[in-house]
Amino acid sequence: MSIVYDKSRGLLTLETDASTYQMRIEDHGYLEHLYYGPKVGVSDMSFMHRRYDRGFSGNPYAAKFERAFSLDTLCQEYSSFGVGDYRIHSIGALHSDGSRCAEFHYVSHESKAGKYALPGLPAAYDNGGEAETLIVTLRDPITKLTLRLYYGVFPRLDVITRAAELINEGTEDVFLEKAASVCLDIPFGSWDLLSFHGRHCMERQPERAALSHAVQIVSSERGMSSHQQNPFVILCDREANEDHGDCFGLMLAYSGSFKAEIELDQFDSVRVVMGISDTQFRWKLAGGEHFFTPEANLAFGDGLTRLSHIYHAFLRNNVCRGEYKLAHRPVLLNSWEATYYAVNENRILALAEQAAALGVELFVLDDGWFHGRRDDNAGLGDWFEDRDLFPHGLTHLAKKILAMGLQFGIWVEPEMVSEASELYRAHPDWAFQAPGRAPMLGRNQLVLDLTRDEVRDYLFDAMAKLFRENNIHYVKWDLNRSLSDLYSPAWEPGRQGELGHRYVLGIYELLERLTAAFPHILFEGCAGGGGRFDAGMLYYTPQIWCSDDTDAIERLAIQYGTSFGYPASAMGAHVSASPNHQTGRSTPLNTRGIVAMSGTFGYELDPGKLTETEKQEIRAQILRFREDEMLVHGGRYYRLTDASKQLPYVAWQFTSEDGSKSLLNVVGRHSQANAPLIHLRLKGLDPKAVYEIAEDGSCLSGAALMYGGYTLPLLTGDYPAIQLHFVRKQAIREDA
Ligand code: GLA
Repeated sequence: MSIVYDKSRGLLTLETDASTYQMRIEDHGYLEHLYYGPKVGVSDMSFMHRRYDRGFSGNPYAAKFERAFSLDTLCQEYSSFGVGDYRIHSIGALHSDGSRCAEFHYVSHESKAGKYALPGLPAAYDNGGEAETLIVTLRDPITKLTLRLYYGVFPRLDVITRAAELINEGTEDVFLEKAASVCLDIPFGSWDLLSFHGRHCMERQPERAALSHAVQIVSSERGMSSHQQNPFVILCDREANEDHGDCFGLMLAYSGSFKAEIELDQFDSVRVVMGISDTQFRWKLAGGEHFFTPEANLAFGDGLTRLSHIYHAFLRNNVCRGEYKLAHRPVLLNSWEATYYAVNENRILALAEQAAALGVELFVLDDGWFHGRRDDNAGLGDWFEDRDLFPHGLTHLAKKILAMGLQFGIWVEPEMVSEASELYRAHPDWAFQAPGRAPMLGRNQLVLDLTRDEVRDYLFDAMAKLFRENNIHYVKWDLNRSLSDLYSPAWEPGRQGELGHRYVLGIYELLERLTAAFPHILFEGCAGGGGRFDAGMLYYTPQIWCSDDTDAIERLAIQYGTSFGYPASAMGAHVSASPNHQTGRSTPLNTRGIVAMSGTFGYELDPGKLTETEKQEIRAQILRFREDEMLVHGGRYYRLTDASKQLPYVAWQFTSEDGSKSLLNVVGRHSQANAPLIHLRLKGLDPKAVYEIAEDGSCLSGAALMYGGYTLPLLTGDYPAIQLHFVRKQAIREDA
């Protein structure tokens, strides 16, 4: 049992292998948060919460002679609004009488085997006997607004998921102005906040700073989880490093505008509230209606590496779905950086032929193939081939590509429409636009109103036809602008604040229908690279194009930052041409291969421009990747250096769970004359075993490699890279 109820003390305790989470139904009926952290068993942690009479922290009327009891100092599972807790609130509700107060009192709870699901939203699932669910029901005593708090406990995985449901049990409308997924109070410790910021072509850069008493906000208002901030934050002990120290992760499984607010309060207690961004949010909840928040995945780990391992295993096994989640991902060649918009039948067939000759398994026709598309000013919405470019049609092209022994994949950007398209001419009102206001353009395109059933139906039919007629094996699902001008004539004025969230629900519904209808298709998410890289999308697409920056040296930092929360099997990574098209930097093919092999591997270049030697090298890379793929995707990811610092080299390692195999990757960023020796202390090996280094046949013990470190040969030249395989040979005898 991972959920324990102690009735006499009102304690609800959630236990995972390494953590304890505890709450209490306290005497006034509030659901008090007592503890989350390293495992303490079912000890009553209420002793940590001594109460004092605090100036300017008032008392609920029902506790009027208890000057030491204040919502302003009480750690809570879901913070109230307007009734005396001046810290970050979790709920915002406008009632029909104009009042906004909301607080919740305990009503009941239930626990059950298995993991709850969330209607219309991605939610982690149980593969069988892995999870338990706790649902605590609370109610506002005055307005009868009901709150159901969901807790999913995955003991072995050390993850606790959270979500909330709001139910209007009255008859008058309530307008939700905020509905957080999680509120987490941490009354002890001294913490750093680690968040992941970025921009197009440089996503998920870790930034770590001590919490200050000014509220910090990590958010996106772009209608997508965004390049600029990721819906994942870590609170780690000031002293925490990769190997040790308390680390809490909060990861929102949501792909739209989000907000994480982090407050260090007047008594140095921390509160994190995370959920849909409330900035543009206003949801009408009529009598009898329910609202579900997205899910937040909480994890606690000793050290940042452990925290990452928790998320990697959890996302791979309990969030990603479908045939490909743990399976081999075909090595692909994508046409984008080979052709850009200059595609036509002959060019694509020639490219596919060259790809097949390299040993590539899947050919992906990127942007430029559909009706009227010559550049990014036209065509979005018309998801059928341009006959001037493909005179024999796409089905003919697909057949020819399949006949080459390749699988066939295609790029689409279904959520968008170009003004220059048949779709827009037929349905100009299907694009978001505020009344009387010309909408913002991004890449000269508009955003389709996915809140409308008929728009999603059109897209489902168009996609289903495209996929079916062309025997599609893989889809790259792109999104190339931030959302704006959210207004839809399909919804009454009082519901316009629902559009941002309804848009996200619309994508999820469309993707649910398509992934169910086409279970054999591998879907890769994309948003101008990694602009929508989140656990919500991973529920539908087990991999996401990590960044439009394909420069191997830049990718070191991008993939490093991404690895804090997301597994290598989720990171789309390709070898592109040198000099690189984004930075102009020249790097060796070996280096580009090694960097891309730490994700879902592929190529994004014109093989016609390669020398024979390079082609041979690529053939060898593909074979190597296929051998290492399960180790990379399913093994443990160790960051051996901090790639966000300008060290002369970057190193990372994958070790199989049983420690029998390990892959070390090193890339030099700047070669130095007379350089110091580099001793890389490997991780995750069996200290008592002997490992053979496959590349030179030498043998060293796990202990020697982990405590002394592998000593690298001097790195010379521009951006050199080394990849070494360590294979466990035998255990060392205790008496040896
Ligand atoms: C986005 C993607 C790229 C490519 C282009 C095509 O930027 O991230 O990989 O598909 O669109 O327009």
